[in-house]
Amino acid sequence: MKKVCVITGGSSGIGLALAHRYAKAGYALAITGRNGAALELACKALEIYGHPIICLPGDVADAATQIASAARVQSELGPATVVIANAGISMRALFKDLDTLVLERLMQVNFFGAVYTAKAYLPHLEQTNGSFVGISSIAGYRGLPARTGYSASKAALQAFLESLRAEYYGSGVHFLTACPGFTASDIRKRALLADGTPQGDSPLEEKEIMSAEAVAEAIFAAQQACKRDLVLTGQGKITVFLNKWAPALMDKLVYNHFKKERDSPIT
Ligand SMILES: NC(=O)c1ccc[n+]([C@@H]2O[C@H](COP(=O)([O-])OP(=O)(O)OC[C@H]3O[C@@H](n4cnc5c(N)ncnc54)[C@H](OP(=O)(O)O)[C@@H]3O)[C@@H](O)[C@H]2O)c1
Repeated sequence: MKKVCVITGGSSGIGLALAHRYAKAGYALAITGRNGAALELACKALEIYGHPIICLPGDVADAATQIASAARVQSELGPATVVIANAGISMRALFKDLDTLVLERLMQVNFFGAVYTAKAYLPHLEQTNGSFVGISSIAGYRGLPARTGYSASKAALQAFLESLRAEYYGSGVHFLTACPGFTASDIRKRALLADGTPQGDSPLEEKEIMSAEAVAEAIFAAQQACKRDLVLTGQGKITVFLNKWAPALMDKLVYNHFKKERDSPIT
């Protein structure tokens, strides 16, 4: 069967690294994103692998766009065999200061974006016995301060994927919930502040955290091995473990950790 991989948010960070990893493995690709110029640039760079690639500009939070994109993938590449719901945004603001429209936007992109991706492409995956990969976060396991919308959207995504996995039990469709820890990318520069404007800078030393390429390699390996869950980074694994067995201790630890971040809104 022809290998076809669809990646939402394939123009930057983890999505772009995944696009390179799947192209290297011989997959035809379809990648999405809102910024048409960045998307074209990514597609151009991916041409070196010599496999078909299509750019699908548009907002992942628009259900009709996703249905139209899936029809285009079906007619130009054939049915998808791997679909990665990766497009996502972050935020950084205390809830008391937050315009709740920002929280709604986080849910629209990170949760409903994945819902519309699943709605559009599950018929492909049923035909191909393919894989649906949701890119969640450690923040989906553990609510983080000043990230209410982000944590809520990722927790909702994880519950959604778990429900789908149970619903499709025995169907041949595989679901992977992938939870990276802190990964070098532009996500923190683009993170929305209390009023919805982008933060513009990262509070982390991006060079010192896991690379998008290493994350993509781990996700690729987990998807190919039909794993159920993937939790990345030592810090991420400890957070998930401690949050299960000592959640009250984790309340204190995450508060102190995020309070120490550069320009933290927690005072
Ligand atoms: N970096 C981390 O530390 C980290 C940790 C855990 C989980 N994650 C998750 O990993 C995923 C990728 O994040 P990243 O770090 O690679 O971020 P990134 O570098 O900012 O890339 C995000 C990608 O998503 C696209 N995107 C954003 N909003 C979109 C929308 N409404 N419609 C369509 N595409 C959209 C962006 O393109 P356009 O802006 O052009 O649309 C871009 O291609 C996200 O789901 C994020 O939550 C990241």
